[in-house]
Amino acid sequence: LVASFQAKVLYGKRVLITAGPTYEAIDPVRGITNLSSGKMGYAIARAAREAGAEVTLVSGPTALATPHGVRRIDVQSAQQMLQAVQAVLNDAPAQHVFVAVAAVADWRVENASAHKIKKDGSAMPELKFAPNPDILAQVAATTSLSGWPYCVGFAAESENLIEYGAAKREKKGIPLLVGNIGPQTFGQDENAIVLFDESGHTVLPRASKLELARQLVSEIAKRLERRSL
Ligand code: CTP
Ligand code: CA
Repeated sequence: LVASFQAKVLYGKRVLITAGPTYEAIDPVRGITNLSSGKMGYAIARAAREAGAEVTLVSGPTALATPHGVRRIDVQSAQQMLQAVQAVLNDAPAQHVFVAVAAVADWRVENASAHKIKKDGSAMPELKFAPNPDILAQVAATTSLSGWPYCVGFAAESENLIEYGAAKREKKGIPLLVGNIGPQTFGQDENAIVLFDESGHTVLPRASKLELARQLVSEIAKRLERRSL
């Protein structure tokens, strides 16, 4: 009912979103993950759908229901997430917007075991790490020529949000970055966010994640409109 009163500001637009944590295997029954619940990414998927977009959600493991009318692709690792994102971006018709909300592991276990690791006397398993691909940076780099899709990044910082957020936006080469102070907001239903763009930063005060997601969707729609003029 609420949705029907929302302006369809993304009508006909295709929006690709990553959400949730990634899970990097150590062996077939163990892995490394993080505290991302997926709530913010799922709220953005719902808000974009309510705004009339065709939404694809590439999701790491979460306990959340798929928002109504959203296409969801489940993945575990960062490499699987990158593959799923590339597959969607290579598919016609083209995506207009890419929103990277997922808390992607920066490293994976390079020497993951094909079999369950057994307790072996007093010997401890030794994990070796390898860097994961930066999904957002890769999408931003490959689309920097055409300008599409419009890339939106997220950053959870535990300190110096204003300074780090602005720097991260520049480093990733993206037009819009959304910052929040984490990890206190992980798993919570409320959040407060800061939008960083080429002209500075704007605070969206504390509200439910769904309310903030709706505000963010309208901010994205405004910027898309300016681009296509
Ligand atoms: N991201 C991504 N792929 C990665 C790492 C991050 O797509 N391998 C995306 C996240 O989804 C988020 C943004 O990049 O939109 C910023 O993630 P963050 O972890 O804050 O930044 P990093 O560049 O990984 O820097 P650091 O963790 O050192 O702060
Ligand atoms: Ca990171």
